[in-house]
Amino acid sequence: MITRESTSTLTCTPLARTFGAEVHGVDFSKPVSKETAAEIRDACNKYGVLVFRGANLNNEQQIEFTANFGEMYDVKAHMKAGRRMRFPHQPEIFDVSNLDENGNVLTELEPARVGANKGNCLWHADMAYNPRRAHYSILRAVELPPKGTGGATQYLDSRAAYDDLSEEMRRRIDSLVCNNSLYHNRKLAAPDTFADFEPSDLPMARHKLAQMHEESGRMNLYITTYAHHFDGETIGQSRPLVNELLDHVSQEKYLLTVEWENNGDMVMWDNTAVLHRATPGGAYTTKYKRDMRRTSTKDSSSYGWGVDPNATWEAGLRTTKE
Ligand code: OGA
Ligand code: MN
Repeated sequence: MITRESTSTLTCTPLARTFGAEVHGVDFSKPVSKETAAEIRDACNKYGVLVFRGANLNNEQQIEFTANFGEMYDVKAHMKAGRRMRFPHQPEIFDVSNLDENGNVLTELEPARVGANKGNCLWHADMAYNPRRAHYSILRAVELPPKGTGGATQYLDSRAAYDDLSEEMRRRIDSLVCNNSLYHNRKLAAPDTFADFEPSDLPMARHKLAQMHEESGRMNLYITTYAHHFDGETIGQSRPLVNELLDHVSQEKYLLTVEWENNGDMVMWDNTAVLHRATPGGAYTTKYKRDMRRTSTKDSSSYGWGVDPNATWEAGLRTTKE
């Protein structure tokens, strides 16, 4: 158990047995200083997930806050692929709501978006399907659905899960390279919607399964539902181990559920140390608005580009115009 801890500005109250903390002491009414940002980064490297209640940032302030933690991702590739955005002038904002570009709750008339949101309900690390993966993500609640209709975000401690692997399993996975596909996750979540997508037709992002989390010096098990196959194996050959590792990492003892309490709450996590998902089966999904907005930074560690440092594609995104 990690005990409650204060640095000069932050107070971190642990949320689960091995990871996660609620953070107090940050004044979000003005831009955070470089010093405070450094403390937040250190805390995130340690706890993996940080919850900030009532941060109440707007899009612009969220982008400004995220810029403290590295080069930011944007949705320009998605826009090029034909997706209409609610905030085309703020491409750093990933719209992970259940709303269309006019702010209405998505219906079955938009199967690709509904399917993408279902994919978000499977365990993942952001942009693990990209050669350049995400490091930190920051998610903010703008409009939450009514209490009791679902919509929590869940996290897994994939560093603790690595620690608990047997010596034999560590040896077995040590050199494995996982080929990650966005569309593999989408097909798992919504097989009918993505029936005509063949993940193998698109480039896959190749990342090592067992990795050093450089900021903490701890190992991390980088297994997600984007995992399609391992180098040198077929999907069929890889499946048993992929499933065994996903079952291992998703045990209750590694789980943290973050309930969104109020609009304005914000959560920051380290995609290279934890997994996450939107909780599946929320009753709100096609009934009530859940307006969530995310920003993410690019991973600058030596694992940031996986094993393909010269890759030039992003997301394996198939354009709708193809
Ligand atoms: C994300 C994500 C989960 C949620 O923003 O990357 O996976 O609960 N969100 O909305
Ligand atoms: Mn995500």
